[in-house]
Amino acid sequence: DLLAQISRLEELFVVPTEKLKAISDHFVNELSKGLTTEGGSIPMNATWCMGMPDGNETGTFLALDMGGTNLRVCEITLLEAKGEFDIIQSKYKMPEELKTGTADELWGYVADCLQQFIEYHHPDEKIESLPLGFTFSYPATQEYIDHGILQRWTKGFDIDGVEGKDVVPPFEAALAERGVPIKLTALVNDTTGTMIASAYTDPEMKAGCIFGTGCNAAYMENVGSIPKLAHMNLDPDLPMAINCEWGAFDNEHKILPRTPYDIIIDKESPRPDQQAFEKMIAGLYLGEIFRLVVLDLHKTDCKMFDGQDISKLNKPYSLDASFLSAIEEDPFENLSETADLFQNKLSITPNRAELELVRRLAELIGTRAARLSACGVAAIAKKKGWTKCHVGADGSVFNKYPHFKVRGAQALKEILDWPADKGKGKGDPIEVLPAEDGSGVGAALIAALTMKRVAEGQ
Ligand code: BG6
Ligand code: GLC
Repeated sequence: DLLAQISRLEELFVVPTEKLKAISDHFVNELSKGLTTEGGSIPMNATWCMGMPDGNETGTFLALDMGGTNLRVCEITLLEAKGEFDIIQSKYKMPEELKTGTADELWGYVADCLQQFIEYHHPDEKIESLPLGFTFSYPATQEYIDHGILQRWTKGFDIDGVEGKDVVPPFEAALAERGVPIKLTALVNDTTGTMIASAYTDPEMKAGCIFGTGCNAAYMENVGSIPKLAHMNLDPDLPMAINCEWGAFDNEHKILPRTPYDIIIDKESPRPDQQAFEKMIAGLYLGEIFRLVVLDLHKTDCKMFDGQDISKLNKPYSLDASFLSAIEEDPFENLSETADLFQNKLSITPNRAELELVRRLAELIGTRAARLSACGVAAIAKKKGWTKCHVGADGSVFNKYPHFKVRGAQALKEILDWPADKGKGKGDPIEVLPAEDGSGVGAALIAALTMKRVAEGQ
């Protein structure tokens, strides 16, 4: 019977405190391993962003944000008044087919958007060369801040001929072809941008996280704790932002409680065996996990949606995280909004038991994501010995998914053994707070800090 399935799903998806603790302890070791010369599965990329802002940065910068859903161009003026800025911005859609198209199409499109932005906001002006902070939110190996070799595509991108190569030259070539007067100053990850933008206005900020289409974090390390940089003989006390790329945590499947559905997601993805942690947490996958469970319950003995046409449900990735959000947000006792949602989106008419099951399933998937992501936050804090700090966070899941913040805070409390009155978010020893615009202000600040560092000859 269908309701009996709920306890089976709870067994699969609930992550108890002890498991969270074990995951986060293993996570601490994996973070350290990633900093060694031998490396581990978490890349722990040195970003060459080597300092926090102090609020006195000034100047005008362009910022380009190539995330998963939108392409955004901003012009940011950091003002004399500490921590203040002006911003103008334009959003362009990131066409779905671009994600699996060719490299030329990708860079051409990005350069076209920048060109349009400049023509629109600076008509008839002769512009010399604007410094650009490019937020390229994929794992990249950087030996300098203004280049980056793409390690692998994540978040469903699959464009041939980009992995293993520096992404900056083809990007600059596309700009040059169009005569766009831009100088790439810094290639930035969204997590690093989030950390820097948050630290601009809050000195307690020590790390930046993204819980969105993908899931990742950055924090400030000191060079002396990064064995893989030892050969460079840098001052061990220098700060260095590390883009963890923690989505790759547990790629070797030692500790995460994967369900059969997670295994299917991985197998069917363009990059199997990669991003094990991300595939259980990030917005790109939440709806797909849900879809796979429901489809399974339809096909097996419990005959969910028996006799109904489920053809719309058969399409991979047809449900996104906002579908789950809407189910979790249904305020009605009879779940009438959920019923409407199924009707409108999938042409399925759920009965009472089916409605109860999908509601619980959405809760289980959303709660698991929040609790697992807390393991990463706790691991960074443990590694660095932080007992009190702020962490800046951005992304559609963090900002829009119901209860994500409070479920994450509750899990942090369980992992870090905080007293009973903590774990609600506000006022917690480690507080995960909504960040400033990391890919706009953060990228501009990193460009400003880089130009200052270069001018000082460091
Ligand atoms: C946005 C940032 O707010 O959040 C992006 O500007 C970041 O840089 C994004 O990549 C992450 O969220 P999502 O949900 O768009 O992946
Ligand atoms: C993916 C990317 C990473 C990014 C994250 C959030 O994990 O690999 O670079 O920070 O998504 O957008």
